[in-house]
Amino acid sequence: MQFELKDDTEFEDDDNVNTEPSVPLSSFCELQSKVAYLQEQLDAFKIESNANMQVSQSSMKILKNALEKYKIHTEKLSKSNESKMKKLLVYKHLLNEYCKNLELEQMDSDLKSEISKLAELKSESLELKYAEQLEDIKDAHQKEIEVYRQKIQEVMSLLKKEKQKNKKITETAQKAISFAKTQKQEQNAGFKYEELKKKYEILAKEYQMLQKSSGKNINASVNFEKVKENLADLKAYVKTICTKFPLVLIKIIRESLNKFHIFSSTNTKLQEQYNQLLEEKKALLNIIHKLKGNIRVFCRVRPLISEYEKSCIEVYQDKIIAQNPTIKNSKVWDFDHVFGPECQQKDIFLEVKDLISSSLDGYNVCIFTYGQTGSGKTYTLEGPDEDPGLISQASTEIFYQISSRMTWDYKVKLSLLEVYNETIKDLLSEKNEKLKLQNNEPTNLTKVIIKGVEELTSFLKYGLSSRAIGSNSLNLHSSRSHLIMTLYIEGTCSYASLHSKISLIDLAGSERLGKTGSIGETLQEAKYINLSLLTLGTVVSAIQQKQSHIPFRNSVLTMLLQDSLIGEAKTLMILQISPEEKNYEETVSSLNFAQNARSTSLGFAKANVI
Ligand SMILES: Nc1ncnc2c1ncn2[C@@H]1O[C@H](COP(=O)(O)OP(=O)(O)OP(=O)(O)O)[C@@H](O)[C@H]1O
Ligand SMILES: [Mg+2]
Repeated sequence: MQFELKDDTEFEDDDNVNTEPSVPLSSFCELQSKVAYLQEQLDAFKIESNANMQVSQSSMKILKNALEKYKIHTEKLSKSNESKMKKLLVYKHLLNEYCKNLELEQMDSDLKSEISKLAELKSESLELKYAEQLEDIKDAHQKEIEVYRQKIQEVMSLLKKEKQKNKKITETAQKAISFAKTQKQEQNAGFKYEELKKKYEILAKEYQMLQKSSGKNINASVNFEKVKENLADLKAYVKTICTKFPLVLIKIIRESLNKFHIFSSTNTKLQEQYNQLLEEKKALLNIIHKLKGNIRVFCRVRPLISEYEKSCIEVYQDKIIAQNPTIKNSKVWDFDHVFGPECQQKDIFLEVKDLISSSLDGYNVCIFTYGQTGSGKTYTLEGPDEDPGLISQASTEIFYQISSRMTWDYKVKLSLLEVYNETIKDLLSEKNEKLKLQNNEPTNLTKVIIKGVEELTSFLKYGLSSRAIGSNSLNLHSSRSHLIMTLYIEGTCSYASLHSKISLIDLAGSERLGKTGSIGETLQEAKYINLSLLTLGTVVSAIQQKQSHIPFRNSVLTMLLQDSLIGEAKTLMILQISPEEKNYEETVSSLNFAQNARSTSLGFAKANVI
């Protein structure tokens, strides 16, 4: 704007400043000062407005920053919500898996079936074993329940944690939503309200589902509680059984004991009666034996060895019936006892047991087997290892009796000899020397002290292994000598003493020289055997006929048997016969000899007791 200077007068009216200048000087100065003033005002305004501008710019910046920060914050929030959602999904998945693994329903049904089993057991019996079973099952169930309870607790605590987390998430989400809502209204920044809302809804659904599964677990927990209650019932029931059972048992035991006492006293009486009868039988047998004249004769029929052979022997009670295979007539022989082909070793032993034990009462006892070669003499006395004969059984019985006779003290000695070709050989001596006879006793005969059956068996095994054995057409393992095993017994007690001997004699078998086909050394043996057996026959006949001279000295065998054949000994002959038709003649000859011996009175047996 251009001002023209004019005089003061020209400025009469201030209101006419815009009129065409004809401005006085004073007014100009005034104007100038006004301009300056306005300029100052303008500058001040400028400064102020600049300051205001700066203020507004910085506030704009602050606002901008705030907006940025808010944006970042909301993005972060959204991201953290997303990760939380992911976590929630993982938890949900884990929880589902866990629930599956637990198979709560399956376990529940298992438990139910177990409970029904327990109920069955419960009703089955009162016996202790069931009580024990129930106790075991109960323990197992309690353990299972404990495990389930722990698992449920774990699930519950997991759920609790999840709930708390959900709660926090929901709270944060709600906060975020409300914050977003206000932000939206205020700044219209277009935040993801809808999205958050959706997320919130999903979260709400998840939460509901979690609540449901928690309810499921709670159901399982209720079931477990029921099982627990059932088990508590069962426990109480088992306790009552356990307390009642011993009482029932004690009652039964008492009744049984009473019955047992009654039976036991009856049994003792019967035992006493039986013992008495046994004593009487023993006494009667002794009387009969004495009256009969000492020699008793048993007859044992050997079973047929070959299935092609035919038997000519029949057994009826204590009789032997032999049928002549050529003329078909039969003859009968009577004996004290007859053992048929089916008889066992133990049957023979049972019949001679009393005789054997009488040796411990001071009687001399002599048991000898007699018969044709191959008729079973050695089998009856020695027998095979799996079915031992009289020697073994008699020895066992003697040592058994010794151990049961407490008041007596016994000493037993053993000797084992064979008469081979009329010479005496000591089978327990390592020296191979021939023994001489002095007063019908072999000199220097080995007599070993025997303490028990095992010792005796081993000595017998040793001695018998060196016995003379050969073979002939009738017997592959024919004894070629007479064997005499003797046990010498000495007994003492506080009021008496005794001595006796028991001899078990396995005679060699008589044989028809032509029939057995023996030659050379075997023939020589056979001749000696037959001679000694013939002498035995002659001696028995002489005794029977009460001849003044009895030819004991005609053979070593009869000299050794003299003690047993005349007086004071209990003598038993076991006649062995072969049942085959081809042996008929020898069998008849043996039967006749045995019958003759049976009718021979040898004198009264006497116990050697002082
Ligand atoms: N009771 C039996 N049960 C089964 N087999 C038997 C019986 N008796 C004898 N034997 C058998 O008959 C055969 C002859 O028996 P053993 O040797 O005892 O006759 P032996 O009379 O002693 O003859 P030897 O006089 O020749 O010595 C043997 O093979 C034996 O095993
Ligand atoms: Mg023999």
